[in-house]
Amino acid sequence: MAINLIYFSGTGNTKKVVEFVGKQWGQPIYEIDLSQKDIQSQTFSDDSLCIVGVPSYGGRVPFVAVERLQKLKGNHTPVVLIVTYGNRHYDDTFIELKDTLDQCGFITVGALAVVCEHSIVHEYAKGRPNEEDFQEIQSLVETMKKNLHPIEVPGHRPYKEFHGGLKPKATSECTKCGLCAKLCPVGAIDIHHIESVDEKRCISCMRCVSVCPSQARQCDPKLVEATRIKIQKPCQVYKKSELIGG
Ligand SMILES: Cc1cc2nc3c(=O)[nH]c(=O)nc-3n(C[C@H](O)[C@H](O)[C@H](O)COP(=O)(O)O)c2cc1C
Ligand code: SF4
Ligand code: SF4
Repeated sequence: MAINLIYFSGTGNTKKVVEFVGKQWGQPIYEIDLSQKDIQSQTFSDDSLCIVGVPSYGGRVPFVAVERLQKLKGNHTPVVLIVTYGNRHYDDTFIELKDTLDQCGFITVGALAVVCEHSIVHEYAKGRPNEEDFQEIQSLVETMKKNLHPIEVPGHRPYKEFHGGLKPKATSECTKCGLCAKLCPVGAIDIHHIESVDEKRCISCMRCVSVCPSQARQCDPKLVEATRIKIQKPCQVYKKSELIGG
């Protein structure tokens, strides 16, 4: 059985988790990176398995991931959902992801929530997923593999509203190397005006911050601090990875 890994990953943790989960099947693996702007239409048969991973943004699926997933078609194709989140909560991310994939012809047969370092407020879940998390994920996947069957997932409709996040800009340390513009998943950085950002396009994924070799792409520190305080209470409660659905 072919395993198709399909993921959106701003700063790399969702990709890392999806690849780790995919390896547990010990089968040939194909990858579709939804952060690429040119996702082609593709159809999957019912004798393959898809593993679809997204980070939770404000308790939702990043909308660009929804748009790009809608180009994929299943034919009663089984799918395992993976949602990574920064130790606050995933809220409606699973239900939105399942609804999107249902409409594309997939059947959700397993789901896993994984805590990863918060990609805006890095002190929350710092360094996760760590070795202990990967052992836990491995054991959860073993359990899930023995009992793949159509499941329901948590969340509410209408989905929680997400009004967008922080928009990183270049500081005076910027060397104009252009890497952030090249790797932005939505083309929000113009190579000729590298210091600014198209705030309407930017989805606040933090990739530009994470890839900048000079640490020159940053969010406004006051807004990061306001976010830190706003989500402090839930983020301080340690959470483990969990299997979702019965
Ligand atoms: C715009 C944005 C919104 C986020 N919203 C949430 C959230 O609602 N709950 C949460 O626990 N973590 C939240 N996070 C943290 C990410 O979900 C988490 O760090 C995720 O693992 C990042 O995955 P990545 O490395 O693949 O980008 C948010 C991060 C960003 C950038
Ligand atoms: S990656 Fe960093 S140094 Fe390079 S252009 Fe972007 S902000 Fe400037
Ligand atoms: S400009 Fe916005 S969308 Fe582009 S990489 Fe940076 S945070 Fe992500």
